[in-house]
Amino acid sequence: MSSATISVPPQLLLERILTLEICRVTERAAVSAARLRGHGNEKAADQAAVDAMRRELNKIPIQGTVVIGEGERDEAPMLFIGEKVGAEGGPQVDIAVDPLEGTTLCAKAMPGAIATMAMAEGGTLLNAPDVYMQKIAVGPGYPKHVVDLDAPPAENIKRLARAKDVHPSAITALVLDRPRHADIINAIRSTGAAVRLITDGDVAGVIHTADSENTGVDIYMGTGGAPEGVLAAAALRCIGGQMQCRLILDNDEKRERATKMGIKDHNMVYGIEDMARGDCLFAATGVTDGSLLSGVKFRKNVIETETVVMRSVTGTVRYIKGEHRQFEKFHLD
Ligand code: FBP
Repeated sequence: MSSATISVPPQLLLERILTLEICRVTERAAVSAARLRGHGNEKAADQAAVDAMRRELNKIPIQGTVVIGEGERDEAPMLFIGEKVGAEGGPQVDIAVDPLEGTTLCAKAMPGAIATMAMAEGGTLLNAPDVYMQKIAVGPGYPKHVVDLDAPPAENIKRLARAKDVHPSAITALVLDRPRHADIINAIRSTGAAVRLITDGDVAGVIHTADSENTGVDIYMGTGGAPEGVLAAAALRCIGGQMQCRLILDNDEKRERATKMGIKDHNMVYGIEDMARGDCLFAATGVTDGSLLSGVKFRKNVIETETVVMRSVTGTVRYIKGEHRQFEKFHLD
């Protein structure tokens, strides 16, 4: 479904200029994390990204509330769920952050780590607890409900192949390489379709489905983090596509956390608009080189970054190459 299907009152449109501001936020987080690429220390890299992201968020004229963050207040010192961010004034916005998506990728200097965030009108992003989430996503241009989270994986591949008017062997599914996905992987392959496995990073994984001609990825399937699900939904709100998700609330503690966050129906299947209802912006900067974005390059006199920013109201996607010369600013990070 395209972003054009939801009409947003003009007074609620996020300022266009914020698109550039959130680019700065993910750039800084990415540069800070990139300094720790390959150091084998996930926590340090994540902390560096969190610190930088928070510093930059607090310079933007917004009244922001973190709804997807580093964890709940008592377990995360910074960018915790409920934390207020932003300088004085400006619109009330929801903020979803994953300052370092793919901490292991960064720690091992492997491809695909990104710094990412979404900003949306206040009260319009799903407040999801940090639990697992079942996800299925396809790009734009297919009939509504072409795939169904509750249908068997092989059935979804066949439905997608029919909609695309190809044999299932022409379909590629992206799946996180985890033992829990063994059955899904076998089922997908049983149709003749290909499985592309990733070790981490399903925000980018979902985004890949929106540009299948270039990425070669037709569908994302499997279970990943719920925060990453909301961020991916915000991106698809901007660029189109379909996504269905369900929180995995498999014990009392998780159900209680979900209830506390206002989730009444614990079995609900969320579509994109249930996770990102309003006008929203999405940004991601590459930390390590990946198929979505190039990683940070530390040159002699310039730090280079690559960022993608998206805006739901217009569906505009911009790839921004940054050349940063004020090194002293970045040395703070
Ligand atoms: P982190 O950056 O928090 O390590 O998340 C990486 C990631 O691969 C996500 O993209 C994905 O949603 C999640 O982990 C999957 O969780 P798990 O590694 O527990 O299977």
